[in-house]
Amino acid sequence: MRIGIVLGTRPEIIKLAPVLAEIEARSLDRFLIHTNQHYDWEMDAQFFEEMELPAPDLNLHVGSGRHGEQTGKMLAPIEAAIEDQGLTHVIVQGDTNSGLAGALAGAKLLRRVAHVEAGLRSYDMRMPEELNRRLIDHISSDLFPPTPTAHAVLTGESVPGLVHEPSGNTVVDAVLRYAPGSRVPIEERDPTILMTLHRPENVDHEAILRGIVEAVGEVAAAHDLDVVFPAHPRTRERLERFGISLPPRIEFAPLKSFRELLALQARARLVMTDSGGLQEESCVLGSPCVVLRTHTDRPETIEVGASRLAGVEREGIVAAAEEMLAVEDLGWEQPFGDGSASRAIVDALLAPTAEPAAVSG
Ligand code: UD1
Repeated sequence: MRIGIVLGTRPEIIKLAPVLAEIEARSLDRFLIHTNQHYDWEMDAQFFEEMELPAPDLNLHVGSGRHGEQTGKMLAPIEAAIEDQGLTHVIVQGDTNSGLAGALAGAKLLRRVAHVEAGLRSYDMRMPEELNRRLIDHISSDLFPPTPTAHAVLTGESVPGLVHEPSGNTVVDAVLRYAPGSRVPIEERDPTILMTLHRPENVDHEAILRGIVEAVGEVAAAHDLDVVFPAHPRTRERLERFGISLPPRIEFAPLKSFRELLALQARARLVMTDSGGLQEESCVLGSPCVVLRTHTDRPETIEVGASRLAGVEREGIVAAAEEMLAVEDLGWEQPFGDGSASRAIVDALLAPTAEPAAVSG
């Protein structure tokens, strides 16, 4: 057994870090492939340093590009590495182009492909991630849904691989390590809103981006809150290109390390975001969240009362923010597990009973 792990973006580094730690703790034979889809220090190396990850065994230096181009550039070297290194397993996470390339290369070579965070759906096909995650789910041999909802999606779609019992989300493993301690009560919180935006379906459209920023500014002014905005490079570029200036209460902040971002989330009055990861993290940390999207792939956070789906128009955003700022009981039960997801995933991959051949149709 020789386990390949393929990652390339900030969320994959964060969510696979506990899986890697589990693999290291058991001294399993592994080979870490980094596509370098994310490459700026703030998006990449800082997380390797902070989370004390081993250096990649292979870095593909693929960088940015159009979707097909980026995914294509990853595919050939990952395929070669799987063969040359004799990898028996390929672990991928989530829904990025790096994850798709890793899963596709592994599945074509009939290796055991494990998909961490399987079964999420937004049913919004404008999202490149929706296509990626559906494809990954249908070609993986081991699927690890984080929640019962995701498990039901996979069985409902009759995916050919082995659907494991809900493992919890590995983000909880990471959050508990980097933000231990109890939830901060409302009265002790900072007078801040934490905002992040990066989804192309939001930031690539001038009217949507302008509308979101103005609505968040309005909420901040009405409640005397300051907005901390660690902006993704794509978002900064679009704001400049469209000539959108930030309203007075919103200030750019540098991109944060994982620990810093968790601390900001834990102490903010409100999180406003289009990120799936932040939606999960804020739910775990007990911080109310407004989801700046028209669909969400994390419905569990809404069901427990931790977040509201706002859409991307002013009225919806302001109404959702008002509702979430009025929430007094931050004691919801978070639905993403108890921090043992990585252990369960590695256990399942090692279990002799779960040894399916490559996926067959
Ligand atoms: C990718 C993932 C998305 C994930 C997100 C986290 C896909 C399809 N999307 O989206 O699922 O939620 O990462 O951030 O894989 N850029 C830099 N420096 C970097 C990386 C990117 O400046 O280190 C800029 C480039 O202009 C690039 C743009 O950001 O073109 C977008 O990067 P890309 O990796 O294509 O997609 P993300 O939006 O980051």
